[in-house]
Amino acid sequence: MRILAIETSCDETAAAVVENGQRVLSSEVASQVELHARFGGIFPELASRQHVLAIEPVVARALADADIEEPAELDAVAVTCGPGLVGSLMVGVNAAKGFCLGSNLPLIGVNHLVGHLYSLWLETDRALGCDWRDLAFPHLSLIVSGGHTELILMHGHGSWERLGGTLDDAAGEAFDKVARILGLGMPGGPAIQQAASQGNPAAHDLPYPLRRDPKHALDFSFSGLKTDMLHRCRRAGLDPDGENNGVPPEVVNDLAAAFQARVAELLLDRLETAAILHSARSIGICGGVSANALLREQALSRFAGLGLPLRIPPLAWCTDNAAMIGAAAWFGRPVRFEPDHGLDLDVAARLPVA
Ligand code: KG4
Ligand code: ZN
Repeated sequence: MRILAIETSCDETAAAVVENGQRVLSSEVASQVELHARFGGIFPELASRQHVLAIEPVVARALADADIEEPAELDAVAVTCGPGLVGSLMVGVNAAKGFCLGSNLPLIGVNHLVGHLYSLWLETDRALGCDWRDLAFPHLSLIVSGGHTELILMHGHGSWERLGGTLDDAAGEAFDKVARILGLGMPGGPAIQQAASQGNPAAHDLPYPLRRDPKHALDFSFSGLKTDMLHRCRRAGLDPDGENNGVPPEVVNDLAAAFQARVAELLLDRLETAAILHSARSIGICGGVSANALLREQALSRFAGLGLPLRIPPLAWCTDNAAMIGAAAWFGRPVRFEPDHGLDLDVAARLPVA
């Protein structure tokens, strides 16, 4: 079964063709990062306009790369219908509906977060850690993206529960905001990683949010950490709007390294607690922040120490892409999603994963 998948929930216009939920025949991603960089964040109206311009060529390239000449060579069209920026989601959903109208293919709406979960099942030999075949249930996944930080326990395909998540900012959002006050620009995660690689994480003793709060043993909080970073940056002479004011790079690098190390520690501590509490048989980390080199390296050694198979997708499947949407549509078919959402599929800015 071949699915054409479309993803436009945020600032990437993406299309892919995925066979049987796992084999990626093609994957195209047109990033808008440069377009939004000068605004210091994503400008929603601009994002939807850019999706309108990019969607047709991106879909055409995905089809051509997969050697699909006729829609009849496909079995369904999957599209992200939420959560995300409504204007952006609408471009993808309407493009998918148009494709279905012209081809008589069924339309499958996919939750973007479920897409991230299923990025772990994409067939690849470049993923970090175990093979997808070793992802035994109950499987525990940490979704860490720009908009979400969620701990999900999967009992089987299409069957999962949310164990916890962030009480305030998402981890990726914290990376982006801290990068901004450090004057490192967008996208924040890679910029902090780069600066941190030259810094000393022990230079600052940052707070550990929710350390002794049994009610929130599986939740996260990043806003206090972000505020603490803001105060440290001010004391170092940095301007919160990103002005460097001649502060030496070593100062910025140490702050970035301490922040990155603390976030990685917070994420992995919660993941480990949840794994033990719920007797998980395999672990996954997915979403944009799972591209972080320190997090990947530490996760690998921590879960190897616990004897638990861990999988983190290759970098291309960590950040937003359409291949994961094709995977989620295929795996979710029999259980969670209507096989055919029809042309009345709507978009939703908020759409819980469970
Ligand atoms: O999953 P994603 O591409 O989009 C959303 O669904 O939000 O995640 C984007 C987030 C951004 O906040 C970005 O700063 C973060 O992922 N990110 C990283 C890294 N690469 C991307 N965070 C830390 N380290 C990275 N290397
Ligand atoms: Zn995402």
